[in-house]
Amino acid sequence: MKKIVILISGSGTNLQAMIEACENKMINGQIMAVISNQANAYGLERAKIAHIPTALFERKHYPNNLAMDLAIGDFIADLEADLIVLAGYMKILTAEFTQRFAGKILNIHPSLLPKFRGLNTYQQALEAGETEHGTTVHFVNEQVDGGAVILQAKVPIFPDDSIEDIQQRVKTQELQIYPLVVKWFVDDRLKEIDGKAYLDGQLLSPQGYA
Ligand code: GAR
Repeated sequence: MKKIVILISGSGTNLQAMIEACENKMINGQIMAVISNQANAYGLERAKIAHIPTALFERKHYPNNLAMDLAIGDFIADLEADLIVLAGYMKILTAEFTQRFAGKILNIHPSLLPKFRGLNTYQQALEAGETEHGTTVHFVNEQVDGGAVILQAKVPIFPDDSIEDIQQRVKTQELQIYPLVVKWFVDDRLKEIDGKAYLDGQLLSPQGYA
């Protein structure tokens, strides 16, 4: 069974989907720890309820980002984790961290990458007059939201939509596709080779599995 570590900063609904997918054996993995950089992240409560160990790494306790990522990396290495899942971890990881665990870090980002990297993607999509938005699961490299795309889900944007309307539609999709990608990874079907994503040995397109 593969060992998974999950990094969060907030509410943890994606974390909850992973917990449930492991509990019901859709994902053949064990969540070894949930790591947060925010003391008040509700995801920490979700982990505790599921009897998963938690760890808090706060930036204020480290002289710089590199020292913090080194500490998190050492903690993860001690657990011998096979996979690091970023689930709403809202701090940019250093290149030292992403290179240390290259090919083993997944992220979900609420846009149809390469569109709208960074923050406030819903607002960015509305302001750009988009008629669709979505979410992307990708491998993590040293470029923010720049790693190989694995799977995307699209949702429509309707004329009178608020940010919350779109966010809710996207979140519903995230809770479906992220556990599926983690399942692919733990079943050894998904690999990153030379910065590209492969599923069952087939190179995925720049937009991921379709
Ligand atoms: C998710 O929608 C995820 O796509 C986003 O944070 C949310 C976390 O929600 N991630 C990013 O914006 C990363 N750039 P959750 O805590 O309820 O899972």
